[in-house]
Amino acid sequence: MKLIEVKDHEEMSRKACDILVERVTELSHPVLGLATGSTPKKVYDCLRKKPISFRDVTTFNLDEYVDIAPNDPNSYRFYMDHIFFNHVDIQTSSTNVPSGYGLDLQKECQDYEKKIRGAGGIDVQLLGIGVNGHIGFNEPGTPFNSRTHVVELSESTRKANARFFERMEDVPKQAITMGIETILESKEIILLASGLKKAKAIERLLYGDISEDFPASALRNHPNVKIIADHEALSMVYPALTGINTPTSSFK
Ligand code: PGA
Repeated sequence: MKLIEVKDHEEMSRKACDILVERVTELSHPVLGLATGSTPKKVYDCLRKKPISFRDVTTFNLDEYVDIAPNDPNSYRFYMDHIFFNHVDIQTSSTNVPSGYGLDLQKECQDYEKKIRGAGGIDVQLLGIGVNGHIGFNEPGTPFNSRTHVVELSESTRKANARFFERMEDVPKQAITMGIETILESKEIILLASGLKKAKAIERLLYGDISEDFPASALRNHPNVKIIADHEALSMVYPALTGINTPTSSFK
């Protein structure tokens, strides 16, 4: 894993945006794996402003809530359309977000895997990290050999996402997510982390055991991972970055 230290959320977003622009311009049919949430939002803002074409780009999002309609503002399809897809020249038919709104979710999971394979696999996958170490919606305990599947969301994830819903009862209990093995098949992975609330997760990702109790640790087995983390997210690794303490260790 390569650690790229950045000052703040802005710089994290710019760095990730620059890497994605490079891939989109150098590959003839780029396949991007995309993420939602607060962390990558400014990456999409940045991409929208670049004078490049997304006409030949195919995208696969990591996950989607179950039982939230695609046109519901809380769905990840809505997020992607409004924050990114509607503002660039990508072909709608080339944008893929799992559908958690159909009747046969198992078939949706299998079809999603087939579509990723059909596109030749993911060239570069953007990832956030949950406070509990989840990637996509792969919660602690998810087998490392998991493929796209339906998950029960943990209480900590539901609480973390409750800010987007009116009432806690409205936060979905299930989601569809690419599996950990699906994610690890991406040729390149960029994990973003910003803010103090991610500090523990980043410390554990860099120094903790590789264990299914902490899904992001599976990334340590991948040959091409870049972690772009800001000073706050690195504050448990390098306390000096936040000006609170003196440095303790460096990541190798
Ligand atoms: P966040 O979510 O970007 O909203 O913090 C990240 C995640 O849960 O993967």
